[in-house]
Amino acid sequence: MTSVGGRRLGILISGRGSNLKAILDAIERLELSAEVGVAIANRPGAVGLEYARAAGVPAVTVDSRSYGSREAFDEALVAVLAQHRVDLVCLAGFMRLVTPVLLEAFPQRVLNVHPSLLPAFPGLDAQSQAWTYGVKVSGATVHLVTPGLDEGPIVAQEAVDLEGCDSAADVAMRILRVEHRLYPAAIQRILDGGWRVEGRRVRFLP
Ligand code: GRF
Repeated sequence: MTSVGGRRLGILISGRGSNLKAILDAIERLELSAEVGVAIANRPGAVGLEYARAAGVPAVTVDSRSYGSREAFDEALVAVLAQHRVDLVCLAGFMRLVTPVLLEAFPQRVLNVHPSLLPAFPGLDAQSQAWTYGVKVSGATVHLVTPGLDEGPIVAQEAVDLEGCDSAADVAMRILRVEHRLYPAAIQRILDGGWRVEGRRVRFLP
């Protein structure tokens, strides 16, 4: 069985950071037993870092455009995460593909939240994809990160009824509300241990 070891999170964002805020709020409400060791943005001026600063959490920008390769960027990320003694890395609206450099530094310790019921609508603009396709139900997925885009073993999913939605923005808003609840709960489950990966499956002890 797997256990993460500690409860220090490193949250990686690219922009708005509402999932970062949801995680910080869940910790504040004692619904998530963890602490955020560092929040990192890959874009200068990412507004979401303000949520970290307001909570007294170190907020760091590692500008992905300053690095010659994805691997070099990930090495810089790993250095910051290690400096802040992070146990579990949470991608939260982080618009970058990660490489084995990060994944090998944190084996089975990188999570992502994706705004669809994977494997439907992977990649960018999952909510617009769902809207364009006309599905009646979509949702949110939390998964372990592997090198393939949005492909890792699934930790948690929740369906969202799209009946009555008028636009892709409407779809995104409904799904986001669920992400904000699902992601902290999934992080808690992973931190609590008692699970292992069997092929594509994350199996939790009964
Ligand atoms: C979320 O819908 C997340 O699932 C997707 O991008 C959005 C980021 O939102 N990958 P925020 O930055 O957490 O507000």
